Amino acid sequence: MYLLFLTLEGIDGCGKSTQARLLRDFLSKRYGEEKVVWTREPGGWPGSACLREMLLSKELDHPWTEVFLFLADRFEHVKKVIEPAIFSGIHVLCERYDDSTLAYQAWGRELPLAQVERAIALVEHLTPVKTILIDVSVETAMKRISDRPGLDRYEREGARFLERVRDGYRILSSREPSRFIVIDGEAGPEKVFQEILVSLEEFR
Ligand code: TYD
Repeated sequence: MYLLFLTLEGIDGCGKSTQARLLRDFLSKRYGEEKVVWTREPGGWPGSACLREMLLSKELDHPWTEVFLFLADRFEHVKKVIEPAIFSGIHVLCERYDDSTLAYQAWGRELPLAQVERAIALVEHLTPVKTILIDVSVETAMKRISDRPGLDRYEREGARFLERVRDGYRILSSREPSRFIVIDGEAGPEKVFQEILVSLEEFR
């Protein structure tokens, strides 16, 4: 299993962060702690807190504002965190990346897919080697989200929004079957993690 740049994707409440943590621990044991970086978007770079706050807590009226802020956050994240790590041979586990912008802004917000794709492609940036999509039903996701203390703008959007995002992810994964690993996230965290490991080893 030699990954270098791996992203984790899925709708809110799919269990992405739990799996990222398990994978970080596993890879740290295998390669050494200093050889693994676990990061996320939005807000994975020093100084990005205000951008994350703006994206998750403020009322933005224009859906394209979201796209451009997510992309601005991404490009800075790539320059400051992802590229330096990868160029030094460090594995990067990143929660959310371009596929989130496609699934949430094109499918979720219903912006034209071709235009969102064009915006993403405007600036050349790294593509993940593998993307783990943790797929759960919206019902399961909503149950998990409702246990959380404060909901962000996307979590408050509700079931229909998440259904669209989930459909988007499924279409994205079927377009690129060699990059995506689709995992059923309905089971408990340990079982889901074992499935992830088996799939990653197969891709060696
Ligand atoms: P976060 O609290 O990090 O949630 P999660 O733990 O589910 O990742 O919030 C990120 C939210 O931002 C999430 O609801 C998805 C949304 N998002 C987009 O809409 N577009 C994007 O490009 C990215 C990176 C995130």
